[in-house]
Amino acid sequence: MRRSEPLRALVRETVLDPGDLIYPLFICPGKGVRSPVGSMPGVFNLSVDEAVREAEEAARLGLGGLLLFGLPETKDEQGTGAWDDNGIVQQALRALKRSEAAKKLVLIGDVCLCEYTSHGHCGVVVKSGDGPNASFEVDNDPTLELLARTAVSQAKAGADVVAPSDMMDGRVGAIRHALDAEGYAETPILSYASKFASAFYGPFREAADSAPQFGDRKTYQMDGANLREALREIDLDIEEGADMILMKPAMPYLDVVRAARERVGVPIGAYQVSGEYSMLQAAFEKGWLDRDRAILESLVGLRRAGADFIVTYFAKEAAKLLA
Ligand code: PBG
Repeated sequence: MRRSEPLRALVRETVLDPGDLIYPLFICPGKGVRSPVGSMPGVFNLSVDEAVREAEEAARLGLGGLLLFGLPETKDEQGTGAWDDNGIVQQALRALKRSEAAKKLVLIGDVCLCEYTSHGHCGVVVKSGDGPNASFEVDNDPTLELLARTAVSQAKAGADVVAPSDMMDGRVGAIRHALDAEGYAETPILSYASKFASAFYGPFREAADSAPQFGDRKTYQMDGANLREALREIDLDIEEGADMILMKPAMPYLDVVRAARERVGVPIGAYQVSGEYSMLQAAFEKGWLDRDRAILESLVGLRRAGADFIVTYFAKEAAKLLA
């Protein structure tokens, strides 16, 4: 059955479609800004007008949607820029919503504080103890209200879907409650239900300028050794009202995608994160891998593992290859 391409096509089990791909954008202040991210060749920080142009291209290519991250003008301890109705992602959402492209794309707002806090953590930080024994911790519960405000503000600005990526406990419930109370009962939640504390987010932290200024994210993101815990996190998020779940990173956690697929009925996404993208790009630059084939193989693998859709920085390129 492998003798010819028509025969292979006939018996192919997994199909990759541009409509399954979500393209992340990093929105920054200014006009006409298209500034390359050093650690992610081919990825840019884009001002709102440039983001609209990207959206037009994404729609032409038949992509499924866009995932928006923001680089605010200023940062503070509370991450005010995240929930400011005039914040950078909110501005982008309003502009995108006015464009023709938006009719063909799902606009997803990433809900988190780390791009907006001066300390770079995903939640509010409290200090306990004093002097040399002082320690800093991310405080779960006070963070929930800020995340809920962020989600509502994004929905108000035009987000079709909100996607909390912070990994605080209880945030899906808090966001659902706030959306319903503010008249956004129809806005679905795509929860990053199982997000592992990973070295593969390294390049993203340059793209989003969100590296933690102290400590790490291991107290709220999951231990890479734990599959059963990932499934508990997924169950909890669905109980709290998650409509779809997102798994990340993708390639080192394919077993988690597969286990989630077999366990739950909600749509599942896999996020091929910055480090996965940059390591492929580095190999392409060296001439060590066949670019086109490796891109598609890496994405088909995620679909085969059970992902309904994929967030990937290769989205545009993959769509061109598939055309
Ligand atoms: C924000 C967030 C991160 C990513 C998506 N949302 C960074 C992090 O948790 O450090 C990573 C995406 C990527 O690496 O491409 N919390």
